[in-house]
Amino acid sequence: MAGMSRRQVLRAGVAAGVSAAAGLSFPAVLRAQAKPLKIGLLLPYSKVYAVLGESITNGMRAIFETEGNRVAGRPVELLREDDEVSAPVGLRKLRKLLSSDHVDFVVGPVSSAVAAAIRDPIHQARVILLNANAGDNALTRERCSPYIFRTSFSNWQTSYGLGAWVKQHVGGTAYLTGSDYAAGYQIVGAFKESFVAAGGTVLGESYAKLGSTDYAAILAKIGSAAPALSFSFFAGTDAVHFVKQFAEFGLKGKVRLTGAGFLVSDDVIESQGEAAVGAVTTLHYTRTLRSPQNLEFRKRYQALTGRLPDVYAVQGHDTARVILEALQKTGGDTADPDRLATVIRGIQFDSPRGRFRFDPATHNVINDMYVMEVRRGEEGLANYVLAVVKDLKDPGHCPNTAT
Ligand code: PHB
Repeated sequence: MAGMSRRQVLRAGVAAGVSAAAGLSFPAVLRAQAKPLKIGLLLPYSKVYAVLGESITNGMRAIFETEGNRVAGRPVELLREDDEVSAPVGLRKLRKLLSSDHVDFVVGPVSSAVAAAIRDPIHQARVILLNANAGDNALTRERCSPYIFRTSFSNWQTSYGLGAWVKQHVGGTAYLTGSDYAAGYQIVGAFKESFVAAGGTVLGESYAKLGSTDYAAILAKIGSAAPALSFSFFAGTDAVHFVKQFAEFGLKGKVRLTGAGFLVSDDVIESQGEAAVGAVTTLHYTRTLRSPQNLEFRKRYQALTGRLPDVYAVQGHDTARVILEALQKTGGDTADPDRLATVIRGIQFDSPRGRFRFDPATHNVINDMYVMEVRRGEEGLANYVLAVVKDLKDPGHCPNTAT
């Protein structure tokens, strides 16, 4: 046993004993003893973004189940915590994941408000956060951290590309609406920046409380402004209500519906039905992409859930893929967060959304953004690609560099 540590000697001894008793092979016993890989899922499983949290979770399961729920020999444990789309609840659940569960990674959240609240405790705990949705620009700009990576999008990325495009192809006057919190202001703000720079005129702007079910007041304002187009950020059940009421209010056909792609994404489009037809949006994923990676993912996701994937499922898939590749590179070791961060920074692969890679200076993902229109086409009611804004990188800077 020369050259082996006390722990290794003990392990080998136990393994040999159990192996002989149970008739198991040596590697099988070692695998049975591997420390579980604990992944804390800090996601909404209730309220306005409940479906988003479920989709992210299922997208991750699609990867881990293909791997037999083991990564680099370690059994995967997904610990689900419902943040209820609330910053105080998110913070409380994060503390539990860190201090009681001692998770190896935190995945989430969905809301920019929850993300802003958990940034400092994550940074101080030196635990890797794989932000699988929340777009809060600051998290990969002035509030960046060596331990925070974003596998989804920055809020800026989801709408900047659309402003100039709709000015050229749809019209020159717009009314802007969104959910009344950071994501709404940042997504609407980035659209406005590019729309105005391209010569467009903004006729008005209104925001609705997150989780609203009645959009009549905003729709009346859009009606009286009579713009060529409306631009919106609404997601989850807010998107379902807004788009249906937009049509019921008689605006469809008079004002072109545009927005960040969450407005009519694959998770909400079936409930919206005819009301969504004609909407023009930008997003980094649509289920109609024909790449081999997307066709394969659709098959796997459908076998697992009985449904086709949406953008949130792909974000979950890519987040799990990052964890898988990182652990393959460290041989399953998660003890050193700085080593993990160095490894994660370099991860690249072909995702169902397109080429996946991080901007190493900010840890934000670089996305191809698809300009899309809702039509009834070969895939049924869905978002079909009209144009692609390639390699869109958030323009922000991380003051101390995330490295
Ligand atoms: C956010 O709060 O950053 C957010 C939430 C839902 C989305 C997109 C962004 O669909």
